[in-house]
Amino acid sequence: MAQHPTDRHSALIEDLLAQMTPAEKFGQLQQLAWNGDTGPGGGQNHLAEAAAREGRLGSVLNLVGAAHTNALQKLAVEESRLGIPLLFGFDVIHGYWTTFPVPLAQAASFDPQVAVADARTSAREARSNGLHWTFAPMMDVTREPRWGRIAESCGEDTYLTARFAAAKTHGYQGTAAEQGYDGASGDLGDLLRADAGGAPDAALGADLYGGDRLAACAKHFAGYGAVEGGRDYNTVDLSARRLRNVYLPPFAAAVRAGAATAMAAFNTVNGVPSHANRPLLQGVLKDEWGFDGVVVSDWGGVDELIVHGFAADGADAARLALGAGLDMEMAGTHVGDHGPALLAAGLVGQGRLDDAVRRVLRLKARLGLFDDPYTDEAAEIAGPTAESRAAARRAAARCAVLLKNDGGVLPLDRSGGGSLAVVGPYADSADLHGTWSGPGERRFPAVSVLAALRAAAPELRIEHAAGGAAAVEAVRAADMALVVVGEQSALSGEASSRADITLPGGQEELIAQVAATGRPFAVAVVAGRPLVTERWIERAPAVLLAWHGGLEAGPALADVLFGDVNPGGKLPVTLPRSVGQLPLYYNHENTGRPADPADPAKPYVTGYLDQPYGPRFPFGHGLSYTSFEVSAPRTAAGSVAVADLLAGARVEVAVPVANTGARDGDEVVQLYLHDPVASVVRPVHELRGFRRVALGAGERTEVVFSLGAAEFGFLADDTGALVLEPGRIDVHVGGDSQRTRHLALTLV
Ligand code: BGC
Repeated sequence: MAQHPTDRHSALIEDLLAQMTPAEKFGQLQQLAWNGDTGPGGGQNHLAEAAAREGRLGSVLNLVGAAHTNALQKLAVEESRLGIPLLFGFDVIHGYWTTFPVPLAQAASFDPQVAVADARTSAREARSNGLHWTFAPMMDVTREPRWGRIAESCGEDTYLTARFAAAKTHGYQGTAAEQGYDGASGDLGDLLRADAGGAPDAALGADLYGGDRLAACAKHFAGYGAVEGGRDYNTVDLSARRLRNVYLPPFAAAVRAGAATAMAAFNTVNGVPSHANRPLLQGVLKDEWGFDGVVVSDWGGVDELIVHGFAADGADAARLALGAGLDMEMAGTHVGDHGPALLAAGLVGQGRLDDAVRRVLRLKARLGLFDDPYTDEAAEIAGPTAESRAAARRAAARCAVLLKNDGGVLPLDRSGGGSLAVVGPYADSADLHGTWSGPGERRFPAVSVLAALRAAAPELRIEHAAGGAAAVEAVRAADMALVVVGEQSALSGEASSRADITLPGGQEELIAQVAATGRPFAVAVVAGRPLVTERWIERAPAVLLAWHGGLEAGPALADVLFGDVNPGGKLPVTLPRSVGQLPLYYNHENTGRPADPADPAKPYVTGYLDQPYGPRFPFGHGLSYTSFEVSAPRTAAGSVAVADLLAGARVEVAVPVANTGARDGDEVVQLYLHDPVASVVRPVHELRGFRRVALGAGERTEVVFSLGAAEFGFLADDTGALVLEPGRIDVHVGGDSQRTRHLALTLV
C-alpha cells in the first residue's frame, strides 16, 4: 500500500511549525474570498495577494481556473518566507462545468451511485481548474420545505442522507473505487461506526493526491436543517435526542468515509452558536468521532458570533471560535487580526493553535501541495464532455419522481401523426440548473425541455406557447398536452426561503385552464423543493416531479416523458398539503391520540379540523409506468439475542419483489423499523434499508437486507452510545413509507 502522505510529510510539517511566527501560524488559519467580478482593489483580492506574499494566508475561496490559481499560488510559494502553498476552495455543489441535478433530486434517485457520478465528474473538472477543496456535501437533514436550502440537502431522512453523504465524500475524494465502495452497502453500523467506537478508518480518504480528487467538506455542522419556520440562518432549538439520532448521523458517516474537512453552521443550537460550540466541534466531532481534518467557519460565521449576542467583539469571537475547535476562518479576519494578541495574553493556547495549523498543513500534504503546488494549465478541462453530459443525463432521469399517472397519460405517445402542445413558463426555459450551480451555468445553458422533446420525437407535431390564451389555444388544437411548471432556480438555495410554497405566478391558473380544455395532459414540475400542489393536483391526470435537473435536464425529461427511461425515483421528503401542516415528516413519534386514516372523522385525535390528516404524498412515494408488488418480508428466525447483535450478529430479511406490469422498470424496495415499546418513544417508521432494483416486465427477485445492532438501536442523548433494548421490533417493507407489509421480530 502506498505510504500515507502525511507520514512522508509529518517531519516537514513539524519543521515548518518550529519556524513559523505566530502571525504566520494564524495566517494559515485564514481563508480570504477572491472576487472575480470586481476591479482592482475590489473584494479581498488585494488583501489576499499581500497576505500570500507575507505568508499570512492559508486558503482562498472563489478563485477558479488553473492560470489564475497558479498565479496566486506563485506569490505564496515563491515570495513568502516559508513558501507554504495555498489551498483553493469553491462551492462545487452539484457540478463544476457539468451540472448534475440538485442534491435533493439526487436523493430522490435512492441510488447513491448518482451522487458518486456527480462527485467524480465534479472532482475531475474542478481539480483541473485549480481547485483542491469543495464545500460539499451538504448533509443537513431537514423537515422544512420552506427552507430554500432544502434543495442542497438530501431531504428529511437521516439514513438516506447518511448514505448519500458517504457516497459523495468517497466520490469527491476518489476513494470509492479503491475501497471497493460501491454505494450499495447500506450497513448502518459500518456507515456510522456507532457500534465500534466511532473512530474513522485512517485508510479511508487518506490520500487526496492526484489530478482528480477534491477534499470534501461535511457541512453544516450542526442542526442547520432545523431552523425555526424554515427561515434561513434562524434559531435551532433541538433536544439532545433529535440532535443525536436525526441530525448528527450523516456527519458521522462522512467522517467515517474520510471527509477531509467540516464546516460550522450559521445557526445556534440550544442557545450556543455552532461556531463557538465546543461540545459539538471539539466534543462530538473531534474527540468522540476522532475527526482529524480541518473545521472551517462558514462565510463570516466568526463575526456573526457578535451579531448573535455571544461574543463582545472580534477578539472575543476569535477566542471563542478557536477555543471551540474551529480551525480556519472563511472571509472574516478576526482570527488573523486578533490571534497573535490572544496568544500573547494566554487567551488562546499554544497547543490549540498548533493543532489547528497542523490540521491545515496536513490537508495540504494530503493533497500533494508540498510536492507540486501548481495545476497543469495544459490539462485544464474547459467544459462538459459527451461523457459527462451522458452521466448527467442518466442521473437526471434517475431522479424523476412520477407522483401520479391516472389513466396512463404518461409516457407520451410519439408514434407518427400525433400532436403535442408543450406549454408553461419552463417549457422553453434554460433555468434548469438549480441553485448553487457552478461556473458551468453561465457558459453552458441547459437544453430546454421543448428543444429536447423536439429532438426526441421528430415525427410528432409539437406546438409551444409559454402561457396565456396562446397556450390554451395550443392545447385545444393538440391531441395531448404537457405543462411544464415550476420554480426559478433562484427561489431555492441559500437565503431563498419561501412562506408560500405553491407554484408562483399564474401557473396554477394555467393548469386549471388546460384542464378545462378536456385534453389529456401531464404536468412536469421543475423545482428545488417539494411544493404544495393542493389547488391543482386533483385536476392533473399525470404529474412528474423533475426537480432542477441540471445541464441535461431537458433531454433527461424527454427520456422519461417518452418512456425511454421508466421513472423510478421516490420522494426523499414528504409532500405536504399545506404550509399550515409543517413540520410534516414520515418518521414522527406517535401521540397518545393518533389519527386513524380509516376513520377521518374520528374526534379528539391528532390533526386539523380543516384538512385531512397526513401528507399529499408520503416519503418514499413514486410510481412507475409498470407496476410492482413488494410481498411480505421473511426471516429465518423470529428472534435474535441483544448480546449476539452486540457481538456482530445480523438478521437477514428477505423481501420478494415482482414487476407485475408489461414494461421494464425500477422499484426502490424500502425497509422501515418500528420499536413499539421502548424507554423513549421511537418513530412510527424509520428507514433502515433501501435497494433500487431494475426488473424486466414480469420478472421477480428477492432483495435481502442485513440488519445489525445499529439498525435496531438508537443513540443515547449524552454519549451517542448505541442503546439496544429487548422486545418486539416491527420490520416493514414496501414501495413507500405508508403502504407496507411487515413481520415481527423479537430481541431477547
Ligand atoms: C454558505 C456555505 C458556503 C459558503 C461559501 C455560505 O454562505 O452557507 O454553504 O459553502 O457560503 O460560499
